[in-house]
Amino acid sequence: MKTVFVLNGPNLNLLGTREPAVYGHQTLADVEQLCAQACARHGLSLRFHQSNHEGALLDWIHEAGRLHAAGELAGVVLNAGAYTHTSVALLDAIKGTGIPLIELHISNVHARESFRHHSYISAAAKAVMCGFGVPGYALAIDAVAQW
Ligand code: DQA
Repeated sequence: MKTVFVLNGPNLNLLGTREPAVYGHQTLADVEQLCAQACARHGLSLRFHQSNHEGALLDWIHEAGRLHAAGELAGVVLNAGAYTHTSVALLDAIKGTGIPLIELHISNVHARESFRHHSYISAAAKAVMCGFGVPGYALAIDAVAQW
């Protein structure tokens, strides 16, 4: 059984109470449940994480890279939050591991402030998804299951 990593960056632990007009009312626990259901439908194993620390995200990407090298990774879904717009380190980690990754955003970042229009991650991502709300996580796993 292959593994899907769903990684969430800074402030996503606040889902449910954080700017509900932008991110909705569902919590990160709801997102994890949605991802678990999607993985179960596809016979995939789920690793679900959130951190407010860039280094923790890097460590999980490296771990996904080791699984990838062993042929045990289905793919990675990464919502890097604001690190999307700032982190060369995340770009380097994705390039360095060669993992197949979907960059995901709950909101449509292109309809928001201009500083959200640039992503360091997109250049290394296999696919980019934004604006589907929380259901986007399940759609991303559906896509990974077809890789
Ligand atoms: C986000 C969009 C980012 O610009 C923002 O910093 C987030 C969440 C999203 O899911 O829409 O923290 O990645």
